[in-house]
Amino acid sequence: MPSFFDTCQASIMGKLLMRALIGTIIFVYGIFTIVLYNIIALSKGTFFKRPTEKERLELQLTRNRLWDLSKDFEGLRHHILTLQSGFKFHFVSNDTPNTPETITSDKPLVIFIHGFPDSWVIWRYIIRNPALQKAVSIVAIDLPGYGGTESLEKYNATNVLEKLTELIITLRSQYGVDSGNESNKKKTIIVAHDWGCVLSMRLAAEAPSLAHRFILSNGPSIILAGSNARRLLFSAKKMLGNAWRSPLHARVPLMKALRTLTPLFRQFFLSGYVFVMQLPTPLVHYFLTGGNQSLLVNCHRTSYNKDKYTPLDVAESMASSMGPSTAELGTKTPSGDAYPASLSKRALSHVLHMAAYYSDGASVAPWSKSVETVASLHSIASGTQRVSSGAGLFDEGPPGAFKAKTTIFWGKEDIALDPRICLDGISDFLVQGSQIVLLPRTGHWTPVERESSAALIKAVEWTAQGEKGDIGAAVRKACPDAQVTSSR
Ligand SMILES: *[C@@H]1O[C@H](CO)[C@@H](O)[C@H](O)[C@H]1NC(C)=O
Ligand SMILES: *[C@@H]1O[C@H](CO)[C@@H](O)[C@H](O)[C@H]1NC(C)=O
Ligand SMILES: *[C@@H]1O[C@H](CO)[C@@H](O)[C@H](O)[C@H]1NC(C)=O
Repeated sequence: MPSFFDTCQASIMGKLLMRALIGTIIFVYGIFTIVLYNIIALSKGTFFKRPTEKERLELQLTRNRLWDLSKDFEGLRHHILTLQSGFKFHFVSNDTPNTPETITSDKPLVIFIHGFPDSWVIWRYIIRNPALQKAVSIVAIDLPGYGGTESLEKYNATNVLEKLTELIITLRSQYGVDSGNESNKKKTIIVAHDWGCVLSMRLAAEAPSLAHRFILSNGPSIILAGSNARRLLFSAKKMLGNAWRSPLHARVPLMKALRTLTPLFRQFFLSGYVFVMQLPTPLVHYFLTGGNQSLLVNCHRTSYNKDKYTPLDVAESMASSMGPSTAELGTKTPSGDAYPASLSKRALSHVLHMAAYYSDGASVAPWSKSVETVASLHSIASGTQRVSSGAGLFDEGPPGAFKAKTTIFWGKEDIALDPRICLDGISDFLVQGSQIVLLPRTGHWTPVERESSAALIKAVEWTAQGEKGDIGAAVRKACPDAQVTSSR
């Protein structure tokens, strides 16, 4: 009989072997993905295509136009906000924070949060809209490590969500959201895409008092995606069990199991780049910048899906990813604020900060809220926050369920996210007054494509004007065949 000590050793050995196996799979699949992406870049001809002198000049001018703190961009002005902890966020806004006019105006506050590999600039087609600027206070932020916002030492969930929450609470105060009494409180709306969507889905679940409505586009709830993946694996396992028990009639259950697993395989294939982000730093750096920045170039071209784009559109997309250059780092806002000093040191490792969201656990790790965060979330919560959950039986909904009104806004031609993994069952995550808006012709980058950016403006205006009537009718003015389902 093995001693207790032997058993323990065996189980430790088992765990170590398991960890080694997972590590090996990540490594092999990550390397495979780098090779695959390089082949794609070679076939598209971007790998050996150095930017021409003209393109280089265009990019430099564009970076200056978008990142020079002293310059307005189409009705928007740059601001640097220093949190109580000293952390500096960069954002652009059409209204000046912390002034009597802004605080007493009754315009709702709309906070835009971008994804990977972008910055506030991804929202340019939306936030420069004059009617929208007239109707709401726009704030388009750069996430930590992106654009003009300071870096974090580690992009774990607690670090990222604490900073984001402190920023939103400070913005609410500087735009006068919480200065009115309960009955005439202004609205806060959070609009987010990709990684911004992933983080905001956590906020909607774990800090719902931050906004009156979340409008969230083309990013997964990791908890929902995980449960969908487990459900598919479980069904497939049962079908394989049937096949094993009666090998003579195995063909049908085997085919069924394969068909069940297709969405999972597809998502696994589409997520190859997430595995690369777990590799050693030099490989991640090569993946994101090698071959004359093929990855970014092709990513930006793809972002326009079927829309035509001009050289200026492409330069703006690249400027969005790259942030301020040395020339803009010395500029100052009209009120005398400069970019955080640490940005000049980040220049060479900038892409690694963006990639660290994938490797440091920002999407899944537990968020341990500080006492200050708990207190401020409590103080902004109004009596009307939690309505009953769409899940029906359980008031809290399943784990990860959103506890604030949410509009899921989804481009159906997304090449990065499979709807059977990311959307199946999402209605169980929604509270009353939430909706799912599906756009048939739109891909992953809803803020950039023409039809979806116009539809996003309609959705924001509908919310800002008091959510009167049907959001479907509003959105269909921009996208006639958008499919809209409302939660009960
Ligand atoms: C997150 O990272 C910080 C370092 O920036 C570290 O002090 C903290 O312990 C980490 N938190 C978790 C939960 O890992
Ligand atoms: C809230 O403020 C509005 C406008 O300032 C005022 O008309 C209303 O009476 C206030 N309500 C309460 C409960 O104080
Ligand atoms: C970029 O393109 C040039 C050709 O224009 C090529 O010589 C160079 O090797 C490429 N750079 C990388 C890092 O592949």
